[in-house]
Amino acid sequence: MAQSLPKYTTFILFLFSFLLKTQSHKYSEKLSPKSLGFKTEKLTHLHFYLHDIIGGDHPTAVLVAQPPKFNTSNSVFGATFVIDDPLTMGPDQSSKIVGRAQGMYTFASLNEFRLLMVMDFVFVKGKYNGSTLSIIGLNYVPSPVREMPIVSGSGIFRFARGYALANTHFINMTSGNAVVEYNVFVLHY
Ligand SMILES: *[C@@H]1O[C@H](CO)[C@@H](O)[C@H](O)[C@H]1NC(C)=O
Ligand SMILES: *[C@@H]1O[C@H](CO)[C@@H](O)[C@H](O)[C@H]1NC(C)=O
Ligand SMILES: *[C@@H]1O[C@H](CO)[C@@H](O)[C@H](O)[C@H]1NC(C)=O
Repeated sequence: MAQSLPKYTTFILFLFSFLLKTQSHKYSEKLSPKSLGFKTEKLTHLHFYLHDIIGGDHPTAVLVAQPPKFNTSNSVFGATFVIDDPLTMGPDQSSKIVGRAQGMYTFASLNEFRLLMVMDFVFVKGKYNGSTLSIIGLNYVPSPVREMPIVSGSGIFRFARGYALANTHFINMTSGNAVVEYNVFVLHY
């Protein structure tokens, strides 16, 4: 009994020091949005063109995964592209770059031309330089206008939410290269 006492004491001391430590490291606290500079929420409209370049010497979209039957049937279900597509102010590829769309899309429907888009718009122009918007959603390509959710963002777009409307401006059916017009409506601080 006398021998086990010091051990027991050590344990108590350890417990106390542990409790003290957890008290000095605050795990969570309530803050007002204003304390971090988030004052009034505003709505911003962004308009640009995305260039998805599959063919040629400098593709910005590359096929990284393909289903087993990719070359034996019409099904492209499961095919996945990784993209680093330029975003420009005008529809012309030589027009001013405002950012890039980085991420991936997957053919996510067995029977339809429906893509699951998982990408960030990374902006480089003006006050948006370095800020990002994150898009996750289905893109039913044959539809004239496709809506995808903006799920959040970073930088100027912290706490962002909104939606992106995409419509194909131009598509080359031979190469697959496409220019897609985006109208993005986003609430942020
Ligand atoms: C698809 O093509 C590749 C290379 O051309 C070949 O190795 C593979 O066996 C083909 N797959 C099927 C399912 O035919
Ligand atoms: C954007 O930010 C980067 C890194 O801070 C900087 O190098 C670049 O010059 C900026 N571009 C513009 C257009 O402001
Ligand atoms: C479409 O792509 C093909 C193959 O890359 C190319 O030869 C042709 O010039 C393109 N057409 C247009 C209108 O860009």
